[in-house]
Amino acid sequence: MDKLTEPELELYNIAQAEMKHAYVPYSHFQVAAVLRTKSGQIFKGVNVENASFGLTNCAERSCIFNYISAGSLADPISEFLIIGGTDDPISPCGACRQVLSEFLPSDATITLTNLTGAVKHMTMVELLPYYFKKKRI
Ligand code: THU
Repeated sequence: MDKLTEPELELYNIAQAEMKHAYVPYSHFQVAAVLRTKSGQIFKGVNVENASFGLTNCAERSCIFNYISAGSLADPISEFLIIGGTDDPISPCGACRQVLSEFLPSDATITLTNLTGAVKHMTMVELLPYYFKKKRI
């Protein structure tokens, strides 16, 4: 299993504290995601559920949408960390992988974690090989 670097530990602590903001009256399963940009800005997100279950927004997408809504697209993402109460480091769903692929540079570090501190490092292409892009470069 991988280990958290010092900068990742900082994101881990932010993400863990953020989990309590998750709106999860149906699953009771809190997830948080935190990203850091190249210039050091931090954006957070949690899962937001709905009585119409299919409308649930995962923490990863909430985090990305906060980053975009702040107008920070010109400041590229350098780190993305996810935490959830899974046995192994949390594994983002397929929909979130596709959304992440739109905004994460290929050199961004993706850190999957859980509440016991288990860690798995991945790149975007490891997370979703051959992801959909309108034009492949
Ligand atoms: N969930 C996330 O927010 N991210 C993941 O990576 C996996 C699943 C949420 C969706 C739902 O609110 C709850 O976890 C249970 O599936």
